[in-house]
Amino acid sequence: MGVAWRRQTGGVNQSLWSAVDDYWIAKLHEPDSALDAATADSAAGGLPPIAVTAPMGKFLHLLARAAGARRILEIGTLGGYSTIWLARALPSDGELVTCEIDPHHAEVAAANFTRAGVDKVIDLRVGPACDTLATLEGPFDLAFVDADKTSGAEYLRECVRLVRPGGVIVVDNVVREGAILDPVSTDGAVMGTWRLADAIAAEPRVDATVMQTVGGKKHDGFVMAVVR
Ligand code: SAH
Ligand code: DHB
Ligand code: MG
Repeated sequence: MGVAWRRQTGGVNQSLWSAVDDYWIAKLHEPDSALDAATADSAAGGLPPIAVTAPMGKFLHLLARAAGARRILEIGTLGGYSTIWLARALPSDGELVTCEIDPHHAEVAAANFTRAGVDKVIDLRVGPACDTLATLEGPFDLAFVDADKTSGAEYLRECVRLVRPGGVIVVDNVVREGAILDPVSTDGAVMGTWRLADAIAAEPRVDATVMQTVGGKKHDGFVMAVVR
């Protein structure tokens, strides 16, 4: 098992995956100065380059629109790249609560929200997400879980409490280049993903599947769940 997953890692097709993303972005995405500036200022601020890709951001945006979302929860803001995509799916009286533990990340994100013109619908909460989540009440129409990978099981439990029946929960980074298949992994993120997987499997209130992703950001994937 360990050998099988290692053989497939290493990002050997990374340049191909990125080029395919670029092809589709050129076909389907409008030029977007606010998102470009959010990415540039996140890099200039020293934030790690771990935001969702443009196709993933637009996927989240379209999912929120398809769900008719009026209230969105995000766990893990970083510089607000995914937040901006999601916020743009909301009506003008909608709301997006986004949780970020790092005050510097939050400061960069807040400036990005203002420039993108979405600050009015965003409620940015600085602090450990578990503390913020305990203060929230539903219903939310969609939740995007993308913070520390050790607490996924706890975040899932809170999202099941907060998201309405028929609402959507998306959890990022559940594949990790296949590292989740390493049976002797001691990596905290991998072990957190196993706990998350067990929690979803044991959660009768959601129907869920996985979607693996490649593209500008290597081989990873997300869980998508709908609340019963
Ligand atoms: N969703 C963003 C990327 C988030 S990266 C995007 O795609 O654009 C993960 C973020 O989660 C980081 O900014 C990190 O500081 C934050 N984070 C880590 N642990 C956290 C916690 N316990 N509570 C809230 N945020 C946390
Ligand atoms: C990484 C990627 C992510 O999407 C994330 O949320 C956190 C970390 C990474 O590649 O390290
Ligand atoms: Mg992520």
